[in-house]
Amino acid sequence: MPLVFPAMRCKLRLLRTQRIHDYLLMEQEFITNQELFRPKVVQTQIDRSEVDKVRGSPMAIATLEEVIDDDHAIVSTSQGTDYYVPMMSFIDKDLLEPGCSVLLHNKNMAVVGVLQSDADPMVSVMKLEKAPTESYADVGGLEKQIQEIKESVELPMTHPELYEEMGIRPPKGVILYGVPGTGKTLLAKAVANQTSATFLRMVGSELIQKYLGDGPKLVRELFAVAEENAPSIVFIDEIDAVGTKRYDSNSGGEKEIQRTMLELLNQLDGFDSQGDVKVIMATNKIESLDPALIRPGRIDRKIEFTLPNTATKRRIFAIHASRMTMDQNVNFEELIAGNDDMSGADIKAICTEAGLLALRERRMKVYQEDFIKAKEKVLYAKNEETPEGLYM
Ligand SMILES: Nc1ncnc2c1ncn2[C@@H]1O[C@H](COP(=O)(O)OP(=O)(O)O)[C@@H](O)[C@H]1O
Ligand SMILES: [Mg+2]
Repeated sequence: MPLVFPAMRCKLRLLRTQRIHDYLLMEQEFITNQELFRPKVVQTQIDRSEVDKVRGSPMAIATLEEVIDDDHAIVSTSQGTDYYVPMMSFIDKDLLEPGCSVLLHNKNMAVVGVLQSDADPMVSVMKLEKAPTESYADVGGLEKQIQEIKESVELPMTHPELYEEMGIRPPKGVILYGVPGTGKTLLAKAVANQTSATFLRMVGSELIQKYLGDGPKLVRELFAVAEENAPSIVFIDEIDAVGTKRYDSNSGGEKEIQRTMLELLNQLDGFDSQGDVKVIMATNKIESLDPALIRPGRIDRKIEFTLPNTATKRRIFAIHASRMTMDQNVNFEELIAGNDDMSGADIKAICTEAGLLALRERRMKVYQEDFIKAKEKVLYAKNEETPEGLYM
């Protein structure tokens, strides 16, 4: 070998480059190991997102008609057309059965998922997971109503043997009726809070759906879910939205509403009514309801809510004012003595209004004058707005 100069510097340089090379090798090895030994959780997460990507977000729902082979099936969509579509490999084949709902990809119509139960997602929304905060303690007066609702809704669930011994069928449901603001919804909430049964809540107007047949279907599903989760209580507020008297009508919308009510009647009759499904309905206008809906055997108990009497008014004032900062001289007797028609909701409004009046003057205490002014304001506004004879 001929001598190559300068030797020293080159040697150093070579060593340096070699060390860098070694370092890079180590780094590469580290990275490959990272890939290999990546925890399983992370790996499945990545796979999951890959699957989600394949699924895409907008999807259609269809009914499975027939499975052809491992990765093809015939589905029918809500538009009424049948399609022969591919099925993705990650579909759980055990869940597939003719008639179940499947998710379709929006573009190529491939089956990308199976819907577990055919209950409408709307129904699961109605299920009350979190109990309302209102309890019986928040209800002023209404002792008779509370007792009646307990007898016909709670007791049959907790002690069915009592009714058996007596030889009577417990009522299927109750209807709460009376002027607005007298605590019908409040009492239903208190029942939901108290009971350990599944509580399904629905407003009558929710039962009116856009497409023909959807309303009755929703009623069916509502009761199916109730039965599945028995013991359960179904609460339908403002039932007059669907429960009005039947009459000849040419409008398709009216007819659909009537069909919804007929389905409701049908469900109330139910073949196996031994199931622990109780129905609570609430309305302001019981006289406009179809008599068939509230005839004995369907809704046996009609619980009337009247305007509170003097003693009850006192209780309701105490309940709503209990958390307010008040002057010691505040005396509710003066407010109650007037003997005006005041509902529970009015009393609540008076308390709120009094608090607001005090706040307006930057006071942190509510005085008697505030309450008096508030009462005038609330009752005046009420008389202004309500045309006479609207609520009977
Ligand atoms: N008996 C009552 N005791 C306590 N608060 C009441 C009572 N009645 C009504 N309220 C108050 O009025 C509000 C409205 O009552 P609500 O039950 O919704 O009336 P409706 O009978 O029209 O359904 C309730 O949130 C509650 O604060
Ligand atoms: Mg109400």
